[in-house]
Amino acid sequence: MFFLFSPQPLVKQVSVRRFATFDLFMRKRVMSPEPGDNAGDRWVEYRSIAFPEYSALLRDNLGPLRVDEVLNSFDNTGNVCVWPSEEVMAHYCLKKRHMFKGAVCELGGGMTCLAGLMVAICADVKEVLLSDGNEKAIQSILKSLPLSLFLSLSLVVRWDCESDILALEGHFDIIMCADCLFLDQYRASLVDALRRLLRPNGMALVFAPLRGETLGLFCQLAQQAGLCVHQHQQYDTQVWDVHLKVRIMSHVQE
Ligand SMILES: C[S@@+](CC[C@H](N)C(=O)[O-])C[C@H]1O[C@@H](n2cnc3c(N)ncnc32)[C@H](O)[C@@H]1O
Repeated sequence: MFFLFSPQPLVKQVSVRRFATFDLFMRKRVMSPEPGDNAGDRWVEYRSIAFPEYSALLRDNLGPLRVDEVLNSFDNTGNVCVWPSEEVMAHYCLKKRHMFKGAVCELGGGMTCLAGLMVAICADVKEVLLSDGNEKAIQSILKSLPLSLFLSLSLVVRWDCESDILALEGHFDIIMCADCLFLDQYRASLVDALRRLLRPNGMALVFAPLRGETLGLFCQLAQQAGLCVHQHQQYDTQVWDVHLKVRIMSHVQE
């Protein structure tokens, strides 16, 4: 197993909301591709700055979360925004597009599965499964999937659901996952899902910020499960430069 660590995000103040990005993708708001779509203003074109030939049209704003949704649905953190780890992982996938082959899966991809979508667009793969445990996130991805990407599929896959994992056991050459290590109650099931879903000699790319102890705890569990873990911090000059600037800025503010 191959493990990647994405550093802490750049935090920008936009209006009254705090907004975090590594600025690896240009975001352009566009009208809905579907006539009569009442979420028209929520469609965004994501275009890679380093590889501008690759872009995707998706919905990264599902509107305000309703109280009943929060209370009655599974973890909604993937419906809030595209988290910086996902953005960095999508950039990394474009940069390393030639390493992808066979069957690829993104776990916990949130409402965009941006990285998995980029693999589907740029790499010579047999199939890409874009997944998350939250039904609303999957509905959003289903709307974003261009018909031309007929090798891609979007599904609810819960790491802690035996039937979800059994159905896909041993199927994937590469599994990707971004910012999913912070949930104490699901960390062990994520490790187990990675182990079971990968083919022998398969590889997982896991991008995550430190988030307290959570990265370390995940690595420990992965090692205990017999996975071979490698951590990388400096895998991209641009990402590393932003990381260093943020570190300096936060020291200055302290
Ligand atoms: C912080 S979000 C990250 C989403 C996306 N990867 C990103 O970085 O923008 C964590 C995601 O993990 C998913 N998740 C949490 N526990 C899960 C589980 N047991 N099975 C499947 N997905 C899960 C949530 O639905 C959520 O979309």
